[in-house]
Amino acid sequence: MTRARAAVFASGTGSNFEAIMNAGELNCDITLLVCDKPGATVIKKAEAFHVSTFVFDAKTYESKAVYEQEIVEKLQAENIEWVFLAGYMRIVGPTFLNAYEGRIINIHPSLLPDFPGKDAIGDAFRAGVKETGVTVHYVDEGIDTGPIIAQEKVLVKEDDTLDTLKNRIHQVEHQLYPRVIRQLTTK
Ligand code: GRF
Repeated sequence: MTRARAAVFASGTGSNFEAIMNAGELNCDITLLVCDKPGATVIKKAEAFHVSTFVFDAKTYESKAVYEQEIVEKLQAENIEWVFLAGYMRIVGPTFLNAYEGRIINIHPSLLPDFPGKDAIGDAFRAGVKETGVTVHYVDEGIDTGPIIAQEKVLVKEDDTLDTLKNRIHQVEHQLYPRVIRQLTTK
């Protein structure tokens, strides 16, 4: 049986990319990293795992539709079936969604629908909630709004700082995302 091929999309550090690569037994092969930030740390990580990279700078394209069309062509040429967003800091547009809807997954560091957006951990911390967590969901046209696949709670401790909370949330992400990917890609 041939294994499904998957791409990870990331913009920054790539700790989730690394966790996915180190997880083993995913039932799919991560064969491509797509990154919109030339020079991002995640690119070096992909090279270390011998994963090929497609790095682009959105500013150099006429529109989102144009760069997304190029991405879709790249994914299709490489027979990519699944896309895992892991800190990809761009809203997915219709060009990409129409080609891959139901196959684009995202991880978000809050218990959605609470605290969508860029600074979910900071927003939850400043709101003083007693618990927050991690959500893995399908991507739709909204910001962190697609159907939820899995969630895991993280309790906020009395003596948490933003940094200690961030660390615990990231640890949960690094366990949860590979687990969900394994389940989704099991045929
Ligand atoms: C993670 O917290 C993820 O949930 C969010 O962006 C962050 C990416 O971190 N979407 P990293 O680049 O995987 O370290």
